[in-house]
Amino acid sequence: MKKILVVGSMSIDFIVTTNIRPNQGETVFGENFSTGFGGKGANQAVAASRLGAHTAMMGHVGDDLFGTEIIANLVQNEVSTDYVEPVTHQSSGSAHITLFDHDNSIIVIPGANNAFDLDEKEKWNKMIDDFALVILQNEIPQAVNECIVDLCWSKGIPVIYNPAPAREVTASMIEKVQYVTPNEHEFDILFPGKNRSEILELYPNKLIVTLGSAGAVFHNGSEEVRIPAFQTVPVDTTGAGDTFNGALAVALLNEIPIEKALSFANLAAAMSVSGYGAQGGMPTLKEMMESDLYEETWNFE
Ligand code: RIB
Repeated sequence: MKKILVVGSMSIDFIVTTNIRPNQGETVFGENFSTGFGGKGANQAVAASRLGAHTAMMGHVGDDLFGTEIIANLVQNEVSTDYVEPVTHQSSGSAHITLFDHDNSIIVIPGANNAFDLDEKEKWNKMIDDFALVILQNEIPQAVNECIVDLCWSKGIPVIYNPAPAREVTASMIEKVQYVTPNEHEFDILFPGKNRSEILELYPNKLIVTLGSAGAVFHNGSEEVRIPAFQTVPVDTTGAGDTFNGALAVALLNEIPIEKALSFANLAAAMSVSGYGAQGGMPTLKEMMESDLYEETWNFE
């Protein structure tokens, strides 16, 4: 059975909704406060699992109440936690999110998400053999990402690399992964000062730039192709990118051609913004199939 491994972050999101943003040194009243499950890694794992893929998470939580709840949430979403390790003397990862004017800004405190030990490389080497596809993001140390990419590369296991949040990476890392999925801002950090179309052409069927409500764009080897987004009224856009990546992984694992896979990922992302919290609106496969728009993407049957 083909399985997805997500190596990455797990966090508790602390979410403030506000109509006004404080300036430096200013105090304002906001509208609402809530907590939710997040971390780009965990979000992508939950998205893939809800869409029917056998999915496992690898990473670390703190030896605290949040860590216990994060693991329980993964289990509830049928994500395997066999490779999730609680670590002592570290708090679980947290993300501090401000929702303002239908969009978010986020401060991440990695905490236990950084607790990978590169000396465990041999263990990871064996573990990865169980998986047909690996997803990575940038909320764990870059050295760990590079190590996992090298292991996958040596075994021919495809990697979807979602370079979020943005940071510089080596050209070799981009060469070795199967797909790279930056948004526009992350693209500018990965390829500073470069023309997007020229870079897309350099990485055909690999580099996919997400454009929010404008969809996603890639180069198919002959021409640049934009896959339009599905328009919805967003309640909370947090986690839309993660839903996109999780859904893309599910489609590609099922050997769906890239254009249809992107359309499927776009629909999952569009549906995800209908609920509060990163995971609140993430659709199940059943919910996607019941959508009037599903026929426009990719049909499982
Ligand atoms: O991509 C959304 C996620 O980014 C949030 O859930 C938060 O945890 C941050 O890591």
